[in-house]
Amino acid sequence: MNGLASGMIVLVVGANGGIGEGVVRQFEQAGADVITHAGHSEGDLTDEQACRAFFQEAAARKGRLDAVVNSAGVQPVRQLDGMTAAQWREVIDTNLTIAFNCTQAAVQVMRETGGSVTHIASIEGTRPARGHGHYSAAKAALIMHARSAALEYGPLGIRCNTVSPGLVERPGIAEQWPEGVASWQRASPLGRLGKPEDVGNACVFLASPMGTWITGHDLVVDGGMSTSPAW
Ligand SMILES: NC(=O)c1ccc[n+]([C@@H]2O[C@H](COP(=O)([O-])OP(=O)(O)OC[C@H]3O[C@@H](n4cnc5c(N)ncnc54)[C@H](OP(=O)(O)O)[C@@H]3O)[C@@H](O)[C@H]2O)c1
Repeated sequence: MNGLASGMIVLVVGANGGIGEGVVRQFEQAGADVITHAGHSEGDLTDEQACRAFFQEAAARKGRLDAVVNSAGVQPVRQLDGMTAAQWREVIDTNLTIAFNCTQAAVQVMRETGGSVTHIASIEGTRPARGHGHYSAAKAALIMHARSAALEYGPLGIRCNTVSPGLVERPGIAEQWPEGVASWQRASPLGRLGKPEDVGNACVFLASPMGTWITGHDLVVDGGMSTSPAW
């Protein structure tokens, strides 16, 4: 990856999250100048004005933005039976509305220069999981949002894609959810969970000069889990 993002100015949203940190590391290793939005400590990005202001200030500070990666999200587990509208809205707002706000804010600063926007979706955007009815719906809509943005913003030279990870390691996951980790390892053709860097590498590839004819694409990064039969 060395040098692949050399000279690029990249904004990573959700940069203090497990995957976000991996995205930042891989862009830095690839030579990018990375600006971070580290979650609630820097502002709630469900707020459209706050989102636009952050992007504008970042672009003004660096002179431009070449790429944005949005890794903001929440993943609470709740059955549909008994789910309240407030619980539904929290997941839709964080996983989908923030993405819309980031796309619009990115376009505002990339309109003259072009650029790349990548949102972190999930394999659950195409295949549901129990207790994630709100999350799967948000990620499915996110994948379609990116395709719509690719269609409408392509003429401005702005590409928009999603990266859909499978289960990614985080500290303590094996202790907190041993049966989930074990069944993932059993079913996955490559026999392991993803690392934040696996997702970061996909984001660097899409944003880099290697990805300049790729837009409206959902890049699945799941160690082959999607090939695994469910029966
Ligand atoms: N981990 C996985 O196995 C996995 C698999 C597939 C897809 N994904 C997706 O990948 C993305 C990152 O996941 P992760 O595991 O890294 O999650 P994480 O560690 O919980 O990080 C989520 C990030 O989103 C930020 N965020 C949440 N609400 C926000 C808001 N209202 N305004 C601004 N920032 C906000 C968080 O900031 P705070 O810390 O301040 O809340 C944090 O930086 C998510 O979209 C997730 O759905 C994860």
